[in-house]
Amino acid sequence: MDNRSLGHVPTPPEIVQAMVALTAPLPASRCRVLEPACGDAPLLRAFRAAYGAGHALVGVELRPPATCPPDARIHAADFLLWRTDERFEVVLGNPPYGIVGDAAHYPIHALRERKADYKRACHTWRGKYNLYGAFLERAVRLLAPSGRLVFITPATWLVLDDFRLLRGFLAARGRLEVFAVGRVFPRVNVSAVILRFTAGAQGLALYDWRGCVGAPRLCRDQPRYDGDLIRFETAATQAWERSGAPLGEAFHIRFAARSTEFRASGLTRPAPDAGDVPVLTGRNLAAGAIDYAACYSGLWMRREDAHQLRAFYAEPHLVVGHTKGARLVCAVDWQCYPWREEYHLLPKAGCPADWARLEAYLNSAAVQRHLQAMYRDLTPHMTRTMLARVPLPQG
Ligand SMILES: C[S@@+](CC[C@H](N)C(=O)[O-])C[C@H]1O[C@@H](n2cnc3c(N)ncnc32)[C@H](O)[C@@H]1O
Repeated sequence: MDNRSLGHVPTPPEIVQAMVALTAPLPASRCRVLEPACGDAPLLRAFRAAYGAGHALVGVELRPPATCPPDARIHAADFLLWRTDERFEVVLGNPPYGIVGDAAHYPIHALRERKADYKRACHTWRGKYNLYGAFLERAVRLLAPSGRLVFITPATWLVLDDFRLLRGFLAARGRLEVFAVGRVFPRVNVSAVILRFTAGAQGLALYDWRGCVGAPRLCRDQPRYDGDLIRFETAATQAWERSGAPLGEAFHIRFAARSTEFRASGLTRPAPDAGDVPVLTGRNLAAGAIDYAACYSGLWMRREDAHQLRAFYAEPHLVVGHTKGARLVCAVDWQCYPWREEYHLLPKAGCPADWARLEAYLNSAAVQRHLQAMYRDLTPHMTRTMLARVPLPQG
């Protein structure tokens, strides 16, 4: 098993220091301290350097290091399946990130035969769950009462739907303090957050702490938290969201038919017959414009057959990009082409929508500004939930 297939990305030393500092004040004078997926245990080493030798240090690692930190016990085990009756006052971690699956598509493939066991062990597992979500759940379950966890993970759990159960799980068990630190891993294109979680407490605080430089800036502090999306809300973004009914109340947000469905349909060809149109993808979509000529999907078909894949292809409707970041890009498909990607808005009541007006509004600078303010770089792409919460234009 090579390092990459197990998601080994060492924690930069300044982040290690910042994380250890966040364990203060320590929940006990003598702490049991755990580092899951510890690699060569940089967090245990730094904890010992900061707080002295009077604590019990435990690491868990699939491939234990050749040299252990002094006084530490390192268990050679799969943390997600590790059973122990011990509970810990402090848990520090940089878990592996990635989807467990096949090597061609997903980074963490070395453990794919254990996926079914992981799912059984982890109640928050949903969809193509990212391994770090499972580590967070398992680590929180090992906290002693009032214990404190400090984990660095990608920021995606704050907003993606796959982590809805995880957010609810955390909200029910303790207080979350989230520090958005940005892209702190060299050569890894991941926007990260540090979570400080205190078992048995309540509420949510969100801090901006780019690169862990200077003092963290408090952006949001609430005494109660129910597991909703964690975003950079301000009075202005809250007022904007309340300014109209959420888009998701008035429209169904459907996803296009998948490549496999197109292939299985027998309706497509790799080269066009006379009268065929290209199956469109996100590359055909720009703000307020659709390129109906270029074929990026490599698939052609008769436009009249498109409704067999999705009935809504046959009606003019708004297509919204599954775009990177918090950018909203949309255009009305007046010509009713087949699509292999993107979100498709359909009026719930079945009554015709003012598509042109909605298109202009959703592409407007004001909408982009609010989305950017709330989601910054927390999300790798526009999600259905983000879109559903955009307020409709008034009047
Ligand atoms: C992101 S690295 C972090 C290492 C170290 N904690 C650090 O901060 O530098 C993740 C580590 O998790 C280990 N690992 C991956 N899957 C694991 C599992 N299921 N159980 C235990 N360790 C695992 C990898 O071998 C790797 O050393």
